[in-house]
Amino acid sequence: MTAGRRITVYGAYGHTGRFVVAQLRDRGFVPVLSGRDADKLKALAAEFDGEEDVRPASVGDPASLDRALAGAAAVLNCAGPFAETAAPVIEAALRAGLPYVDVAAEIEANLDTFTGFTDRARAAGVSVVPAMAFYGGFGDLLITAAMGDWTAADEAHIAYGLSGWHPTAGTRAAGAVSRQRRGGRGIRYTNGRLEYHRDALPTLDWPFPDPMGPRAVLGEFTMADVVTVPSHLPIPEVRTYMTVEAARDLSAPDTPAPVAADEHGRSAQTFLVDAVVRSGGRERRAVARGRDIYAITAPLAVEAVGRLLTGRTRATGVASAGAIFDAPDFLRALSAHVDLKLQL
Ligand SMILES: NC(=O)c1ccc[n+]([C@@H]2O[C@H](COP(=O)([O-])OP(=O)(O)OC[C@H]3O[C@@H](n4cnc5c(N)ncnc54)[C@H](OP(=O)(O)O)[C@@H]3O)[C@@H](O)[C@H]2O)c1
Repeated sequence: MTAGRRITVYGAYGHTGRFVVAQLRDRGFVPVLSGRDADKLKALAAEFDGEEDVRPASVGDPASLDRALAGAAAVLNCAGPFAETAAPVIEAALRAGLPYVDVAAEIEANLDTFTGFTDRARAAGVSVVPAMAFYGGFGDLLITAAMGDWTAADEAHIAYGLSGWHPTAGTRAAGAVSRQRRGGRGIRYTNGRLEYHRDALPTLDWPFPDPMGPRAVLGEFTMADVVTVPSHLPIPEVRTYMTVEAARDLSAPDTPAPVAADEHGRSAQTFLVDAVVRSGGRERRAVARGRDIYAITAPLAVEAVGRLLTGRTRATGVASAGAIFDAPDFLRALSAHVDLKLQL
């Protein structure tokens, strides 16, 4: 039902975009390669059979975006910083009446998508799913699945146990934009709202389940989950944590970009995500293990596109992964990529 359908990938030649293009091909979709650099697009097309549909487009040129989306069934935006790309590509999706999915990790850019497009996307009957990626979408799916039949909770905690983090240029650029937008302040979600602060981040031990075991993490290492989870779940405290080694890698200016270590192009990085919800003294959790946070973003985003195109959705307009999809079913569909344990 979805095979053969064209999906425009904006930012197709980026590190994440390339995983997404490969995943679309694996799933029988026909990727339309788009982005701002025609030469990089042609070089990417040449890596396949050279007959890929290549459509250069710039966020400053709406007509070029319209050409990039023409004839497609959906658009998947992998070009970040999303502070620059999300709004123009969503505008193009609304003009074309196509579902839009992006992989934005930037908290403020994701908020802008909710605040700027909720009414218009709903009125147009267009689905817009921001942060459909490792940070933001995955944590939201895990928390939503862990909730089970709970409709509210007191706290949600997502602890990221990364073996290390070799950031891409796009991750560094997104981080720089976010730091600038926050004026160097930290951000956290507490008492039911986002709060900017200047406190030092606490270091604590997080009891990761086996095989990782307890590890030192930075608390209030706040990721896009603080936008996605509270967008649909009444949980006043949503906190995210990061293993200190990975946080150190990310902040060091000389940490190299990821390098391929297997036949799928994945790096050697492993992750364990421990998602915990607490309510009235009870606790439920979802634990997911896998490899390479950039690579795993591709099956997440492409699964989302598949569900949007086959009507397996629960919401319209701008919606996070946990709001629009059946979270446990979605996570089960990732079983080739993620080892999942639910403890309800
Ligand atoms: N939420 C998550 O878990 C998650 C996971 C993966 C990626 N991401 C995000 O996805 C973005 C890309 O990451 P990446 O790892 O693929 O980085 P990357 O390899 O550096 O790729 C960045 C891509 O964005 C394009 N781009 C940047 N600014 C642009 C603009 N103004 N207009 C058009 N294209 C633009 C780049 O094109 P040029 O080469 O022409 O500059 C390139 O194709 C980052 O923002 C990253 O944070 C998030």
